[in-house]
Amino acid sequence: MIKKIIKNYKKPIFLYNYKKIIKNIKNIKNIKNIKIFYAIKSNYNKNIIKELNKKINGFETVSIGEIKFLNKIGIKNKRIIFSGVCKKKRDIKYAIKKKVSMISVESFEEINKIKGKIKIILKYNLNLKGGTKKEITTCKKDNKFGIRSNETNKIIKFIKKKKIKIYALGFHIGSQIKKVKYYIKAIKSIEKIKKIYLSKGIKIKTLNIGGGFAINYRKNKVFYYDKLWKFLNKNKSFNNFIIEPGRYITANSCLTISKVVYTKKVNKKKIAIIDIGMESIIRPALYKSVHKIVNLYKRIKKYHDIVGPICETTDTFQKNKYIGIKKGDFLIIKDTGSYCLSMRSIYNMREKPLEVIIKNKKIKVI
Ligand code: LLP
Repeated sequence: MIKKIIKNYKKPIFLYNYKKIIKNIKNIKNIKNIKIFYAIKSNYNKNIIKELNKKINGFETVSIGEIKFLNKIGIKNKRIIFSGVCKKKRDIKYAIKKKVSMISVESFEEINKIKGKIKIILKYNLNLKGGTKKEITTCKKDNKFGIRSNETNKIIKFIKKKKIKIYALGFHIGSQIKKVKYYIKAIKSIEKIKKIYLSKGIKIKTLNIGGGFAINYRKNKVFYYDKLWKFLNKNKSFNNFIIEPGRYITANSCLTISKVVYTKKVNKKKIAIIDIGMESIIRPALYKSVHKIVNLYKRIKKYHDIVGPICETTDTFQKNKYIGIKKGDFLIIKDTGSYCLSMRSIYNMREKPLEVIIKNKKIKVI
């Protein structure tokens, strides 16, 4: 299939596999009383979003721009959660006017800005680890995100005075959370907060456990969270759950095809310069993340650096990789379905790659 797709190759191609997306969703759908809201920051290709819209409950957004984008492609506001750590008064006003379903509140100050009907999620910073890289940890007290637990009493006083209803409690521990234990710790910690609300007569039945579900970038597979789903199914503190996965649904559904334009010899190794870089796949430069790279063709293996075309030395995918590469070859960069094109920049003004999906054995440009 890939050989067919590269026949008229002109620029890098992001190739999605529809089947994988559906399989990833099914892994989550085993849980009772759970609603899935896809975090569109991880990938907002409009065709992918439209496909997801048929299969899940809705979408998590973090800006008015994302809400407007969803509306433009026909997604209804009642299927949208509005989150984000820096919502302005006018953003909140807009979301309420448009009847967005839920708002995820990240501070006491924010609640004061909500005037009108919208379901409120109180997103807490539980000061917990997630066992992930510091760059994508979000739930430690020195991170900017979430309501601090010592604000709870102040919130309770305020919402009682103003007769504000709370729909859900929530958290987002971080991204690439590989172990169930971190979610369980967070749930136990938020159960304590729920009890404080209950002791003041405020019942909250829904829990938003955020996103963060990981994939294995070495094996092109998702991690499994069966123990967590079991834990949620048995949980008596909350009746309903919300989940906001991004990476878990799309990351491993996509690979990127890129051409080796030049090779340069440096001592015993070669540098392979490919036609895609940090403008479209910034994760290696930004987080030192490793995306597995294989050659479409079999070659004798040697040490190579694999670098992109951007005028920055940090535009490097891998250093000293033992792989066979010849000029003109096509390299496959795996697991590029999340936080790659959605984080694309116009730096160096390089052309946007092509996006293609394989669905029911048919190839379609999307
Ligand atoms: N919900 C909230 C409130 C979030 O902040 C995020 C991601 C998600 C859900 C979805 O997280 P996921 O399930 O995709 O881990 N650019 C980084 C990841 C940043 C995630 C930001 N927040 C990366 O490439 O690893």
